[in-house]
Amino acid sequence: MSIAIPPAKFDLQEIKSLENDQLAARIQAVRDSLGPQLMILGHHYQQDEVIALADLRGDSYQLSQSAANSTDCRHIAFCGVHFMAETADILANRPEKLAERSGERVRVILPDMAAGCSMADMAAIEQIEDAWDQLAEVLDTEDITPVTYINSAASLKAFVGQHGGIVCTSSNAKAALEWAFARTSRVMFFPDQHLGRNTALGMGITESQMPVWDPFADELGGNEREALERSKVLLWKGHCSVHQMFRPEHVAMFREQHASIKILVHPECPREVFELADESGSTGKIIKTVEAAPPGTKWAIGTELHLVNRLKQEHPEQEIYFLSPVVCMCATMYRIDLAHLCWSLENLSAGTPVNTIEVDEETARWSLVALERMLEVR
Ligand code: 13P
Ligand code: SF4
Repeated sequence: MSIAIPPAKFDLQEIKSLENDQLAARIQAVRDSLGPQLMILGHHYQQDEVIALADLRGDSYQLSQSAANSTDCRHIAFCGVHFMAETADILANRPEKLAERSGERVRVILPDMAAGCSMADMAAIEQIEDAWDQLAEVLDTEDITPVTYINSAASLKAFVGQHGGIVCTSSNAKAALEWAFARTSRVMFFPDQHLGRNTALGMGITESQMPVWDPFADELGGNEREALERSKVLLWKGHCSVHQMFRPEHVAMFREQHASIKILVHPECPREVFELADESGSTGKIIKTVEAAPPGTKWAIGTELHLVNRLKQEHPEQEIYFLSPVVCMCATMYRIDLAHLCWSLENLSAGTPVNTIEVDEETARWSLVALERMLEVR
């Protein structure tokens, strides 16, 4: 039986008129009153003011782990995007965790419901199911492992769980592909073609063995039958609108201007940029790489602007540049601001919660199968 939730007690428009220091003080007051019952998680792409109030910051893998391992907490405020909050809900409310808490759920809130991910939106479950059905006419789908990047809706994760597949993040994509190839001779990777391609190329798979499936093509994702037959990895035609802005000419420009500069990029960048880079990795790895470098190291970093700017501030002993003359920030991550965080936390604390993310039981059950595999594979 669902319990009716009273209308929000606090008004967003009023809260939006407050200054950041007032908002931070009010958020801190909720943190103080809820104590360890509240966990604020912040993805590395969040704004500095938000990150300053997070209990934990991390990349997608680390934040999933934090949600999975939570013990005292009863509420998670996810400062990130929708698929991350869904993942936290599934992991924090998996059956053994519910049993430990005598059935009490952890409530996961996303401060602004408009914080989605354009890449995740490039693969709808109906399109994946249609692609799978079409593939079954050409290939043995029993011999294909579906791998979904964590940047996808829970329904895709459930599809993957039901079809013997795995979820990966940018920090374990290679291990996830190895896991998949230990089971089947083919992989279908969605929604990010670049992460799939960059990872598979590093494993010796050639571009000609990686046809791209276009969900809007008339048939077979726009591929010839022979191309599918010789495939090892079927890539989905999806990408990150932020990372696709980094171009090879930006790498060339920095190398020309600074002889010793190192190029450090996220694997969501296109192949032409990824292959020119000196180092690459998840947001967590990018941070660790900079932290481990000797003072005076010069970097041009190809990932979301807020993270690069924070690295600049936190590492004045290094010379850090953003790998593009154009501003590439994630507009949806940016939706989470102090006003939305304050509004959602005050309503939570007043018993009038807003923006709860709760994945339905069946989807959560199958997604969990694929997410648990993700957490096991490094
Ligand atoms: P990671 O933090 O896992 O590297 O992910 C980057 C990203 O695009 C999140 O949406
Ligand atoms: Fe999605 Fe790209 Fe934003 Fe990450 S940076 S949330 S992949 S749009």
